[in-house]
Order: sequence, then structure tokens, then C-alpha cells
Amino acid sequence: MILLFLPLLIYGAGSLGSSILKIARQFCRHILVADIVEEKLKEAQKSGATYTIHVQRENFQEKVLAYTQGRGATVSIDAACVADSLQLLLQATGNAGRVITMGFSTTPVPVNPFLITSKELDIRGSRLQNHMFGKAIEMIREGKLDLSHSVSHTFPLTEAQAAFDLADRHDPSVRKIVFTFS
Ligand SMILES: NC(=O)c1ccc[n+]([C@@H]2O[C@H](COP(=O)([O-])OP(=O)(O)OC[C@H]3O[C@@H](n4cnc5c(N)ncnc54)[C@H](O)[C@@H]3O)[C@@H](O)[C@H]2O)c1
Repeated sequence: MILLFLPLLIYGAGSLGSSILKIARQFCRHILVADIVEEKLKEAQKSGATYTIHVQRENFQEKVLAYTQGRGATVSIDAACVADSLQLLLQATGNAGRVITMGFSTTPVPVNPFLITSKELDIRGSRLQNHMFGKAIEMIREGKLDLSHSVSHTFPLTEAQAAFDLADRHDPSVRKIVFTFS
């Protein structure tokens, strides 16, 4: 397996970001993770983040440059999907880098197109269509991917509403919620 030392930036260390981190660790040795919750950043460090950035307490752009020898991230993944995250990642990504959007919001957000043009950035979306489920199952089966801490709550399907209410509270303790069928 080829290990990449090019810097990967994961913006958001919640349920999605922490899963991306665990997979990225298999291929990449230089990973920056940013979030606004200290607890999430500590978990990211335990899961193998090389550097973490607290977006509200630190200067995000300065830290990205400091952790990438002034070049910016090679690939940035938006796993927070908040209103300003795409623009922040366009700034934080280096020349000829790639920015991956993951959000489902349909609300337009302001971005500076000159960042895309001048750095010749590649912007891509990611959802479910990459035919990688088989590979993911294989990685879990082979013990390369440990998702044991990814599930925080389990509900019987008959209590689905309580599960959705819990998810809507966005408590930092909530990760993946699994429904069981009796
Ligand atoms: N494209 C896909 O396949 C896919 C899959 C799952 C989730 N998503 C989307 O990804 C997003 C995140 O999902 P999730 O389940 O991980 O949610 P989550 O609530 O578990 O995680 C979001 C994380 O972003 C952090 N965050 C919030 N505001 C931030 C900010 N301003 N700066 C930095 N970090 C910030 C939160 O602290 C949290 O850790 C959602 O919009 C969801 O719809 C997309």
C-alpha cells in the first residue's frame, strides 16, 4: 500500500469527519483536523490526526499554513458543511489542490471564484456513488478499520422518533445511531 505524505485537511470531526479520518489514516500520514469542539479534536488526535486546529480559538488559515510548510492542504474535505466552510477550504487549499464538498444544504453560499481560478483548484462532490462499500467492508473484516467507537447509540426501529430527536440535539456525544430490528 502506498502511504501519502501530502497534507490532507478534514474540516469537521463529527460522525462523518471521524470516519473519514479512520479511513484516511490507512493511506495518509499527514492529516490536519479542524473543529470547534475540543473533545472532538482530542478524539481525532487519538484516531491519528497529525495536527488539530480549534477553529474558534486559533487562526485557522495561519495554522494550516504552519502545518503544511506554507503550501496549504493538498486535499481538503468539508465534513462540517457549515455556511462558511467551502470558502474557508478554498483559502486553505494549496495550488492545484482538491476540495471535496459533502454537504446536503441547498442554500447558496458565497465563495471567491478567484481562489479556484488562481490556484487551479479541483472541486468535487462525494456521496454514495464511488463503488467503495465492498472495499470498506473488506477493511473492517480484515481489522484495518476499527469502527467500534463510531456507534454511540442504538435504538429499536419502533423508537425511531426518539433517535431522530437525539440526533437533532447535536450533542457532541452523538455519533452514529444504529436501529435494531427485532
Ligand atoms: N456526502 C455524504 O456522503 C455525507 C455523509 C454523511 C454526512 N454528510 C453531511 O456531512 C455533514 C456532517 O455530518 P455529521 O453526521 O458528521 O455531523 P456531526 O454533527 O456529527 O459533525 C459535524 C462536526 O462539525 C463541527 N462543526 C460545526 N461547526 C463548525 C465550524 N464552524 N467549523 C468547524 N467545525 C464545525 C461540529 O463540532 C461536529 O464535530 C452534514 O451536513 C451531513 O449532512 C454527508
